[in-house]
Amino acid sequence: MARSVHFHITKGWMNDPNGFIYYKGEYHLFYQYFPYAPEWGTICWGHATSKDLVNWEQQEIALFPTLPEDQNGCFSGSAVEIGGQLRLFYTGVHYDEVDPTNINKCIPDHLTSAQLTVSSPDGCTFDNFADKSVIIPPLDDPALGDRVHTRDPKVWHGHNAWYMSLGSNIDRKQGEVLFYKSYDLVNWEYVNRTLLDPSYGWMCECPDLFTVDTGETVLLASMMDYMGQGRDESVCFTGSFDEANCDLQLQSEPRLVDYGHDFYAAQTTTDEAGRRVMIGWMRMPEPVNDRWIGMFCAPRVVEVHDGHVYTNLHPNVRYALVHNNLATTTHRPYLFATNLSEGNHINVGGLHIWQEGHQIHVDRSRVYRVHPGYEHVHSVTPEVGDTNKVEILVHGHLVEMYINDGQYVVSNIVYDLGGWFKTDANAEIAVLGL
Ligand code: FRU
Repeated sequence: MARSVHFHITKGWMNDPNGFIYYKGEYHLFYQYFPYAPEWGTICWGHATSKDLVNWEQQEIALFPTLPEDQNGCFSGSAVEIGGQLRLFYTGVHYDEVDPTNINKCIPDHLTSAQLTVSSPDGCTFDNFADKSVIIPPLDDPALGDRVHTRDPKVWHGHNAWYMSLGSNIDRKQGEVLFYKSYDLVNWEYVNRTLLDPSYGWMCECPDLFTVDTGETVLLASMMDYMGQGRDESVCFTGSFDEANCDLQLQSEPRLVDYGHDFYAAQTTTDEAGRRVMIGWMRMPEPVNDRWIGMFCAPRVVEVHDGHVYTNLHPNVRYALVHNNLATTTHRPYLFATNLSEGNHINVGGLHIWQEGHQIHVDRSRVYRVHPGYEHVHSVTPEVGDTNKVEILVHGHLVEMYINDGQYVVSNIVYDLGGWFKTDANAEIAVLGL
């Protein structure tokens, strides 16, 4: 089955993108998946492939619990290629005390996490029974990190070794990123860590450290209770990383990757052309048709200009809209582009967008259903210029707005969006895909 632009499943629950990689001529995108109901539960890795990052093909479930170390779930992780094989790294969880009302969950904080690996000769077949192995056992030194909440291995190849980042925390007060090193992907040695300021959140999930094609180093981190605001947010930093001692120095304050507050747990890889491409999970307050919940944002290219991290819509999405080579979906996506100045409004099927006081505002209150923990309806960007280029990708339950080629992005989950738009912006309007 193929889907387009915004990947989602059609039954069950989906959260983080995992194991995102271009391998043997295809993109592989795995994801946190609970197939039985549209709510989080014992997690396996779902799997989809694509030739163009736009049209996705569902594959069989890749990873599921088989060992004591992952018996309660295969949490997030990453993929690398070695010697023609695909190698996955993930966090296995073992519940020390199960929730007696729902065995898919544990009594809060009563779990143990270990890091595991499994390989595949072709990217699609995984031997869950015989091939998994534990590479980093549960942490046993609280001064180093949390035995419960240490997870989400992201592995990459440096100049002469493999490196892994893990998200963790100290005393549930301060997030940190742990760095490990390996020469064979089997034996891993702890090298160093970066403590994050406690104000950024108590726990760091899904750290992803990489360099963009112009050489700058970027850290993406998903912080729990970011800035004490009660929300988990994906943030980005610029910095420098010394491979010799895994010393990460952050050079900037954190900034939201997306100002719509639905985006989380981003993961990047390099695309076919060597660009750094990112996909993130869009959190949804309620399932669609009582069947499925969770979407991915469109693929975005990460670049750094003048020390600022840009995340712009991947050119393959534009190409697919222009050439109309999208697989059939229930909602037809389109891209609406214009310039926005002080006082201008755009109304996309009931989603209101306007510029006021050098900020761009988005109000989704007419096309959203508020649930506990999902009350956010009004988004505001940081300060922008007098006139700003906006490109708005509209597709079913998700509207993404790219401002000034990805200087800021605001993405919003919506329900019952009208199939029309209007604006009083008097600049030229371009629409792709309709
Ligand atoms: C982030 C996260 C990860 C974890 C996974 C579990 O959304 O909490 O840290 O590995 O989801 O599904």
